[in-house]
Amino acid sequence: MKTTSDIQAHATEVIARCQMLAGFSEDSAGTRRTFLCPSMRDCHREITRWLQALGSEVTIDAVGNLRGLYRATTPEAPRLLIGSHLDTVPNAGAYDGVLGVLLAIALLEGLEGKRLPFAIEVIGFSEEEGVRFGTPFIGSRALVGRLDADLLRRRGENGISVREAIVNFGLDPERIPQTALMEGQTLGYVEFHIEQGPVLESLGRPLAVVEAITGQTRLEFKFIGRANHAGTTPMNLRHDAVAAAAEWISAVERTAQAEPGLVATVGRIEARPGAVNVIAGEACATLDVRHRSDEVRERAVGDITQHAEAIASRRGLSVRQNRLMEQKAVAMDPFLVSQIKSAIRAAGCEPHDMASGAGHDAMILAEKVPAGMIFLRTPGGISHDPAESVEPGDVAKAIECGLHLLDQLASSSEFQAGFRTGFQRRIDRA
Ligand code: HGY
Ligand code: MN
Ligand code: MN
Repeated sequence: MKTTSDIQAHATEVIARCQMLAGFSEDSAGTRRTFLCPSMRDCHREITRWLQALGSEVTIDAVGNLRGLYRATTPEAPRLLIGSHLDTVPNAGAYDGVLGVLLAIALLEGLEGKRLPFAIEVIGFSEEEGVRFGTPFIGSRALVGRLDADLLRRRGENGISVREAIVNFGLDPERIPQTALMEGQTLGYVEFHIEQGPVLESLGRPLAVVEAITGQTRLEFKFIGRANHAGTTPMNLRHDAVAAAAEWISAVERTAQAEPGLVATVGRIEARPGAVNVIAGEACATLDVRHRSDEVRERAVGDITQHAEAIASRRGLSVRQNRLMEQKAVAMDPFLVSQIKSAIRAAGCEPHDMASGAGHDAMILAEKVPAGMIFLRTPGGISHDPAESVEPGDVAKAIECGLHLLDQLASSSEFQAGFRTGFQRRIDRA
């Protein structure tokens, strides 16, 4: 077993690697790495190097997920997946997603050549944030067989479809079915991720076990009024799309403030034609609504939609909405939750149980295999921003926790038998 100072040094190396990968960006300033953009290749190159040095077999699947297989003691043993996403939001931090992939590699390095009764597949998902095409989880949805023809036809801002983006990256969309998890092959999925919020810092705890991931709905609203001259059109004769959207955005905020635990966000708004001296004929806004309870979330989406319709009709406009994504709340696997709690304790920390307000690939994998998540403290609770950070001591604790978790699972006949029941149970439910 590694000494504490070895693990501290390893944690420092993991952080340095995150910062190096953050330099691979589509933008000249700041980190932006969206689905199958050229800078994703740089990430793949470096991660492949680290994985091949451990004797792992690395492939890039048909939707651009990086997959590194670290074999077991026996060739056909089932596998535990450990990973997270490699894409980022615009002007991102260096740890959201990437840290989970690099911690998976750190665990393989921590095994120091030891093989386990199950294989470990490290996964770097190609698209979790939903920036390029407005819909998230493209990489992990392929693994559970949810990448449908509609999604492949979806077009991004420059008119390129998901299918074309796959071909442009040199991949073959016809091979998407081969990306799916095979029956009886997967024991479960574990994801390390920064909390991206203030809870662990407020408790003074380095690690948490995630009990559930809140559901989310993402939509676009288009307010359609009438463009006109800003200087000659009296206020009472206007059908100003931006003014209508602005009134609606305040209604969105009031709706969320009135319901405990509900969050609703208008993250992007676009005025058309977008000239200083033209009353906007159109205003396109995105909406992101989340809550632990699917019923509360769905009711809130209904209320917010009614506000949009009422405001539009009173102002002589129309409004259209397009549902980009709907993801139900997902509970993590109870067995993995208990194993993760024991591993956090074995690393010398008291685990905190919490729900995740952020979405994660684990909520997609959980449809098919037992899934578990470990959160690391986020200093200042800041994420989706270059100020995002991690404590080296917490990364060291995460490595220790992960090595204890692998130890526990390697000696758990229940876990290793589980793939016949756990995986089958989910396949039967599919
Ligand atoms: O937006 C989210 O929930 C996550 O950061 N993808
Ligand atoms: Mn994110
Ligand atoms: Mn993330």
